[in-house]
Amino acid sequence: MAIRLGDEAPNFTIDTTDGEINFHDWKDGSWAVLFSHPKDYTPVCTTELGYTAKLKGEFDARNVKAIAVSVDSVESHNGWVADIEETQGTAVNFPIIGDPDRTVADLYDMIHPNADNTLTVRSVFVIGPDNKVKLTLTYPASTGRNFDEILRVIDSLQLTAEKQLATPVNWTPGDKVIVSPAVSDDEANERFGSFDAPKPYLRYVDAPAD
Ligand code: BEZ
Repeated sequence: MAIRLGDEAPNFTIDTTDGEINFHDWKDGSWAVLFSHPKDYTPVCTTELGYTAKLKGEFDARNVKAIAVSVDSVESHNGWVADIEETQGTAVNFPIIGDPDRTVADLYDMIHPNADNTLTVRSVFVIGPDNKVKLTLTYPASTGRNFDEILRVIDSLQLTAEKQLATPVNWTPGDKVIVSPAVSDDEANERFGSFDAPKPYLRYVDAPAD
């Protein structure tokens, strides 16, 4: 069955390029981005994994761990990472799950038979410290994902989790944010100072500094 927002992220123990991992133990209370790619030694995937490696500093700053998966073996991944380093100018600094038995692919419904019978699509699951799924994305094999967008969503998710703030259309960090409808006016005043309310249900505030 498809995984939906708010569901517990299924746990698994599996071999990766960093050795055997129990997913929940490896996460250890941090945020995680679990993302699948269709196949090793393919062009779009090579660029995606290289770019994700370059974002390590951004992920670390947000307490996020990245982990990739495809139905190729760890042996195959270990050969391919040399090509990623050579062509993308960065070493792969996160684990890649070997999933030839489709353990993770099946748990997370990453094979969409009407797209391809055997290969994983480009799925993304952002999982919170509570191991609950906060975001799902699905892209076809031919479209590389925008990992800057994934970072932007994580910033929004963390504002919601930590400060009960929401983010408006096309928000980027530094823009005004929105007070969640669950927060009363009195509480909003207390927590954020004054707010700008063009409508009673539309309340903007500056994003509080940490
Ligand atoms: C790619 O990563 O370039 C790719 C993988 C599978 C199918 C199509 C493209």
